[in-house]
Amino acid sequence: MSEQTILVTGGTGTTGSRIAARLRARGVHARVASRSSACRLDWAEPGTWAPALAGARAVYLAYAPDLAVPSSDEVMAAVTRAATAAGVRRVVLLSGRGEPGAQRAEAAVRRAAEEGGLDWTVLRCSWFVQNFTEGQFAGPLATGELALPVEDVPEPFLDAEDIADVAVAALLDDGHAGRTHELTGPRALTFAEAVAEIAAVTGRPAHFRPVPFEAYAAELAAAGVPDDVMGLMTHLFTEVLDGRNAAPTDGVQQALGRPATDLADAVRRSALAGSRA
Ligand SMILES: NC(=O)c1ccc[n+]([C@@H]2O[C@H](COP(=O)([O-])OP(=O)(O)OC[C@H]3O[C@@H](n4cnc5c(N)ncnc54)[C@H](OP(=O)(O)O)[C@@H]3O)[C@@H](O)[C@H]2O)c1
Repeated sequence: MSEQTILVTGGTGTTGSRIAARLRARGVHARVASRSSACRLDWAEPGTWAPALAGARAVYLAYAPDLAVPSSDEVMAAVTRAATAAGVRRVVLLSGRGEPGAQRAEAAVRRAAEEGGLDWTVLRCSWFVQNFTEGQFAGPLATGELALPVEDVPEPFLDAEDIADVAVAALLDDGHAGRTHELTGPRALTFAEAVAEIAAVTGRPAHFRPVPFEAYAAELAAAGVPDDVMGLMTHLFTEVLDGRNAAPTDGVQQALGRPATDLADAVRRSALAGSRA
């Protein structure tokens, strides 16, 4: 693809910022959009979508806070229709593995894209390694203890750099249209194992402590966490993290022709980047 604009929603977030950086490195114009970006886009304000979409050839869709939010499927279908109207040719949706709400949103995007004649690709992802290194669990880990309401459930933690590589391939290259890439890391680890590996790689002692869900919820409530976020955490810890996503896939290999990045390597690279910053 030559001269083109790619709209990267959630472009200041974990995956979007990495995707925008890769697009720019390839000489592609990445238009970063979010509530705080120069190109303002708010999922709750449909009036902000058309200006962000204008002139874009492809769109990366990263809904926030989560596709588990009721009616996210309607929002994703509506933005896909708006993309069609704006002349967009391709949509790439970031989705979550084993989540009924996310799968409803995937179906809504597929349907709307097919009706509009757009290429679609779904990236159905497991838990990001970056939840530990830069997301909401990085702070507790830095104090030496991460306490969450999950026991010995293995999860094949996925490196967001791999997601960005697959997203860029799906946005720019041929061969990804009409495909759902189920992306995971190469090894399933329990949270205790993941935290132990992170501590070993970074040299910063940390351990994992499983806690009852009620105690965790009470702690969040005391910290003033809003009801909608509480609802998402309840969904995540009482439903999604039941072992349904434990089996690793070869989705990264299938999409890119190279293996997925191991959690230890992802953490090592992020620790090195942090020490250079
Ligand atoms: N973390 C995981 O383990 C995991 C696993 C599978 C799937 N996912 C999915 O990943 C998605 C989040 O993507 P991410 O992790 O790359 O981003 P992120 O780091 O969670 O950041 C959220 C991004 O969305 C923007 N945003 C927040 N609220 C918005 C709104 N109302 N309208 C428009 N933009 C908004 C934020 O920027 P502003 O604040 O400037 O608006 C930011 O750019 C969610 O759909 C989640 O379900 C996450």
